[in-house]
Amino acid sequence: ASTLGAAAAQSGRYFGTAIASGKLGDSAYTTIAAREFDMVTAENEMKIDATEPNRGQFNFTAGDRVYNWAVQNGKRVRGHTLAWHNQQPGWMQQLSGSTLRQAMINHINGVMGHYKGKIYAWDVVNEAYADGNSGGRRDSNLQRTGNDWIEVAFRTARAADPAAKLCYNDYNIDNWTWAKTQGVYNMVRDFKARGVPIDCVGLQSHFNSNSPYNSNYRTTIQSFAALGVDVQITELDIQGGSATTYANVVNDCLAVPRCTGISVWGVRDTDSWLGSGASALLFDGNGNKKAAYTAVLNALNGG
Ligand code: G3I
Repeated sequence: ASTLGAAAAQSGRYFGTAIASGKLGDSAYTTIAAREFDMVTAENEMKIDATEPNRGQFNFTAGDRVYNWAVQNGKRVRGHTLAWHNQQPGWMQQLSGSTLRQAMINHINGVMGHYKGKIYAWDVVNEAYADGNSGGRRDSNLQRTGNDWIEVAFRTARAADPAAKLCYNDYNIDNWTWAKTQGVYNMVRDFKARGVPIDCVGLQSHFNSNSPYNSNYRTTIQSFAALGVDVQITELDIQGGSATTYANVVNDCLAVPRCTGISVWGVRDTDSWLGSGASALLFDGNGNKKAAYTAVLNALNGG
């Protein structure tokens, strides 16, 4: 196959990208995005600050722009993200305790209700675990509402849209030996044991010199999958853009049947949150395919 999406589809997987609504008027951008990818994540437009800028007043203008572009171009959509300590609107940052807990529940219901039946998978909870060696939760206003906030979010989400896969999504949970990875693994194991509804784990997979790709990545994917959840590589970018590392990531996903898809976090290097100097994506700023692109395509094609 000659595009990333078609190549991934040969094994029943998808290959997606983050899309920014502000770039949908850039035809160089949309030409590549429409051709190569078959899954879309809104880079910012479905986050809490975008969708509920005022308490109880939802705004889906930008989210719908991304959603409609995706569907009009034959792509599925991952929802990102419903409960997160970051990119909270000012009103939510001010809340605490049971008021915040209820606001979280209302937010999940409002956003998932709007997109009911339309989203392949939601990142229900994003980045709830702490960096470093604790293996525990990150401190946040949501965490301070009580340790059960994550399972409440997942139960709320299941009821709001039973058709969507429900994912826990995080970074620095790629390396199997890291405490953060083990912390998330233990949470997912506990959720499966107690019947808390969770369908997938998103490995963001932002690789850089502080958190480099490690060959135990395949073990991480296999270990989560063995708990009975899908694994999705949700925000892949590799600082420096190593073609070999990109191929390793793809091959690790292909090795695990329950690794169901890969998304990169942007189209061209100039679209990356890391800036174009990081050279972290598959297309350069002029829209040319990089060596990393060819490595990914070849891996998806089985070679
Ligand atoms: O749109 C405003 C613009 O109006 C304003 O003038 C400008 C000035 O700061 O800011 C613009 O908003 C920025 C937005 O990106 C759109 O470009 C925000 O400041 C900036 O904080 C925001 O960054 C996003 C970041 O999440 C915020 O947490 C990145 O685009 C986005 O790529 C990044 O994505 C996250 C995932 O959601 C979760 N995992 C990590 C990943 C990378 O950080």
